[in-house]
Amino acid sequence: MATTIFQTPIKLVVGAGSVEKVGEEAAKLGKRALIVIGGSSAKKTGLLDKVSADLKANGLEVFVFEGITPNPRSSTVDEGARMAAEKNIDLIIGLGGGSVMDASKALKLAYSSGLPSFDFYSGKADSNAFQSKAALMLVPTMAATGSEFNHWSVITNWETHEKRAIGVPMAFPATSIVDPALTLTMPVSQVAKGGVDIFLHVMENYITHDAGAALSDGIREAIMKVVVEWLPVAVKEPTNLEARKNLSWASSLACSQAITFGGGQGYRPIHLIEHAISGLYDVQHGDGLSALLPSWLRQSMSKRSARITKLGKNVFDTDGDTADAVEKWLDSVGMKTSLSKLGVPEAQFAAAAQNALDTSRGFLAKDAVHNSVETITALYKAAF
Ligand SMILES: [Fe+2]
Repeated sequence: MATTIFQTPIKLVVGAGSVEKVGEEAAKLGKRALIVIGGSSAKKTGLLDKVSADLKANGLEVFVFEGITPNPRSSTVDEGARMAAEKNIDLIIGLGGGSVMDASKALKLAYSSGLPSFDFYSGKADSNAFQSKAALMLVPTMAATGSEFNHWSVITNWETHEKRAIGVPMAFPATSIVDPALTLTMPVSQVAKGGVDIFLHVMENYITHDAGAALSDGIREAIMKVVVEWLPVAVKEPTNLEARKNLSWASSLACSQAITFGGGQGYRPIHLIEHAISGLYDVQHGDGLSALLPSWLRQSMSKRSARITKLGKNVFDTDGDTADAVEKWLDSVGMKTSLSKLGVPEAQFAAAAQNALDTSRGFLAKDAVHNSVETITALYKAAF
């Protein structure tokens, strides 16, 4: 039996209105804060001003690094790390979606080490060899990646078109403030993309883990059922806070160690195959996943029919075709799509497949179905 270790140093503060706690919690972690944000939305909604004022009222000096993009780039992160060094920062606050949170983790690694951030993602450098120079606080404004409750981070080297993930102790946030009311400012299209991402974070591990993990299966099915039920509500009723609250909880748990209670780790082949697409063509992560999902399920039936059928029965309440049920759900939240609709050129599929294999740290080479350039290309073609 495999050994499972559960250890998390993260203080998670959850609830509508919990954003009011940012200043109070931040004051326990540092004195000179760098707030990391994406484009203009944190400014437009007034959230940046509100958080900055709260930090100042709690005695912190505040600096802002702006400009993290979707598929966050290592070059942008490195700019932020230079700013952190100039300002002698002792607290990094990621205020935004998954890209901002992952970039904030990368920024902490680069700032603490003085090295280019991507060195850690490519395996060139080991963050355990460095002392942390700043604490990390994360404040998600959308429910999607669950980055606030784990030590994982994904960034892209735009020069080499490599999108890579790492999970290292230094990337654990000390405190994360999860306020579902903040997600009400997200456009419905982003909520839908985030919801598909949450679903796949759980579903992929559920399908790929070794059999014999009844408790993990139950926890994962419960998270997936919440997303399947409440994402359509969040999309149809953009002001429904109950829906956003359920998605926020699901998001935080989906990528945490909590889903490994009961054993059965699994891994995420669709994510690995999608990373090649978004790393090469800057497709939004949730869109790429949605395009691949139904075809991945259909092509995986030859080796994984028992798990996929169980997914259909226990999560979608169907004895019929699971892929059809999943596709219908995607359609209900406006996420039924294809690689051709996303503008991904068919001519590059073999190169993307090779990129997926190269950046998957050996996971795909061992996959039961999608383990070669030919089989991954066949998935891209089916999803075109
Ligand atoms: Fe994801």
